[in-house]
Amino acid sequence: MSLKARLLSRRNFLMSGTAAIGAGAFFLYPDATLGSTGVAHNPLNIPALDTGSLQNGTRSFDLSVQTGQTEFFPGLKTPTLGINGSYLGPTLRMRSGENVRFNVANDLNEQTTLHWHGFELPATADGGPHQVIDPGTTWRPEFPIKQKASMFWYHSHLMGRTADQVWAGLAGMIIVDDESDELGLPDTYGVDDIPVVLQDRIFYRDGTMPYRLSMQGRMMGMIGNIALVNGTVAPYFEASTQLVRLRLLNGANASIYNLAFDDGRAFDLIGTDGGLLGAPVRTNSVRLAPGERVQIIVDMSKGGPAVLRNIPGGTGPSFNFLELRPAQNPASSQALPTKLADLPEISAASAVRTRNFLFEMAGMMGGFRINRKEMDINFINERVNVGETEIWKITNATMMMHPFHVHNTQFRILSRNGVPVRAGENGLKDTVLVSPRETVEILVRFDEYTDPDSPYMYHCHILEHEDDGMMGQFVVV
Ligand code: C2O
Ligand code: CU
Ligand code: CU
Repeated sequence: MSLKARLLSRRNFLMSGTAAIGAGAFFLYPDATLGSTGVAHNPLNIPALDTGSLQNGTRSFDLSVQTGQTEFFPGLKTPTLGINGSYLGPTLRMRSGENVRFNVANDLNEQTTLHWHGFELPATADGGPHQVIDPGTTWRPEFPIKQKASMFWYHSHLMGRTADQVWAGLAGMIIVDDESDELGLPDTYGVDDIPVVLQDRIFYRDGTMPYRLSMQGRMMGMIGNIALVNGTVAPYFEASTQLVRLRLLNGANASIYNLAFDDGRAFDLIGTDGGLLGAPVRTNSVRLAPGERVQIIVDMSKGGPAVLRNIPGGTGPSFNFLELRPAQNPASSQALPTKLADLPEISAASAVRTRNFLFEMAGMMGGFRINRKEMDINFINERVNVGETEIWKITNATMMMHPFHVHNTQFRILSRNGVPVRAGENGLKDTVLVSPRETVEILVRFDEYTDPDSPYMYHCHILEHEDDGMMGQFVVV
């Protein structure tokens, strides 16, 4: 790469979003704070791994939701929120079939909640808008892990306040293991199995990243001009092995990322939201909406460094996220298996009914709603019978893409505009992106946990849309 090309690609870590967002004078310019050190100059932060403590078959985790200060830029302290730390939280690791308990202490001076995104669990343990944790109190949900090996996450879900609390830092990863660890996939945390929380933020000259919604932010959601990976600005990761497994989470408020490497190299998609795919899918890019996760395997044994970028095709600014640097003498990795998980066939035959969900806007300037209704915490929108398979037909009548997320289930995508989905989209999902004028059909079932009084949520995972009303409630009976 020529020096100029190199500088340009370095600048990309920070710069390209600024013009699109405008009002540049208020933003913290990278030139001013980073000097001539260039970008991709920070080692990627790997969130602490927390395996809790196992007692009488229950694994418990102590979590404190707290305020803090985070040094994203040298010498500048940014006020943030975090879990057991100043920004984001530890990666919680547990095993399928175990019982878990979380002791969530709210050490903020405002209310919060913590939601376990992607898990099947009793509604009262879900951590949604109904499980408010008052300041100074501790919430202790407990449930068995029904999910297969994958990556999940936890985040604030406070009614009307999810967007600003997540923006400030209230989110973290969860890794679930199961017998698939015999497949020989890279699985050494922080070495060849890397958590990658993708976000973008807007920083001001004084280092603050306040949550301030403009008109455009109200419509599109808060989209930043600076990329963060696990809270690291302009990160690199030094790979020591041939194969590297990246567990990618779109933890942004609103940006839809279309991810690819700068050299166009192919990689293997091995898992989606709730588990491994049937077989690896070779691809050059993957689109990830807020809330969605994928696991990919990148071959670092040839081709030099590779920069993971957001390319056109989503909505976020086109910046670089993470530079992977290969080792001189990489440790060899086991070959990728050709078969991963056993997934039941996707078949509409078992569905007993179809339920319709229409995304629309009440007017030109917002009013996001589903089926003509804005979220009302005192209203149950849907009652679903336990154990019955249903088709949920989601139609997007707006001009924007919306990621539809359903609590308490891992579903399958049946079709997009009537066409069965391609490999790579046919795995376990809890969030699905719906494009303008698109109808997506998903196959949904809730296997247990009936409770006529405590609802679960379904909603758009663009957090500004969720907070603005694009959410509904269902009970399982
Ligand atoms: Cu990731 Cu209802 O949330
Ligand atoms: Cu969720
Ligand atoms: Cu939306």
